[in-house]
Amino acid sequence: MSDTDNTQYRRGDFARAKGEVILREHEYDGIQEFDQKLPNWWLFTFYGAIVFFFGMWFLYYTIGVIPSDHERITTAVASVNEKKSAALADTMSNLTDAALVNEWATDESRVKAGEAIYLQVCIACHGPNMDAPTKLALSLVDHEWKYGNNPLDIFKLINNGTPAESKGMEPSGARMMAFGQLYTPDQIAELTAYIISKNKEDFKDF
Ligand code: HEC
Repeated sequence: MSDTDNTQYRRGDFARAKGEVILREHEYDGIQEFDQKLPNWWLFTFYGAIVFFFGMWFLYYTIGVIPSDHERITTAVASVNEKKSAALADTMSNLTDAALVNEWATDESRVKAGEAIYLQVCIACHGPNMDAPTKLALSLVDHEWKYGNNPLDIFKLINNGTPAESKGMEPSGARMMAFGQLYTPDQIAELTAYIISKNKEDFKDF
């Protein structure tokens, strides 16, 4: 077999056997590209990926045996929401106006837990003294409770945010988000307890 009989060799092997590299003719700014055969392991993964693509396309979109990401997320969110409403129902089943005032708001560790969240989050709008000095929110120490005077009304407002039918604050229209999205029902009760502990006279009749 002569060196010039390159039909016996694959392109890259031939060049390598001769200690040469093959360059493409095209040149730009003095730069030319190699024109070598790609290694088999690389081609294997490349063609494998193409086959894999058609397989998955078929399973996902044609016969639909694998749930799509959208379906998986919807199921996961539904199960989180189920757990959350179960936790809420569990807390609510023991939570009464009287319990919030006489058990939660007198329990130092629960009040402290509520205070810790207040100082982290609520303080931004309601202020360090709860009097909302920047008018970003309503005062929590003015003895006026816009969405109800009962401890459970306050719990629900913090949990659910400004009710859908409300226009929010006058005149800015500022509303409050549903902190139930961030905190567990017990944490909302701790926040309520902390607010009650700062407004004892408003809730002394419960
Ligand atoms: C981004 C600003 C903001 C933050 C943070 C915020 N609030 Fe509010 N809050 C408001 C606004 C605005 C209102 C008035 C909503 C309305 O009128 O509908 C309000 C109203 C309230 C009320 C009713 C007050 C009343 O006089 O009736 C309570 C209780 C309350 N917030 C508790 C909390 C608690 C607890 C937190 C922390 C978990 C918190 N807020 C964090 C903006 C905020």
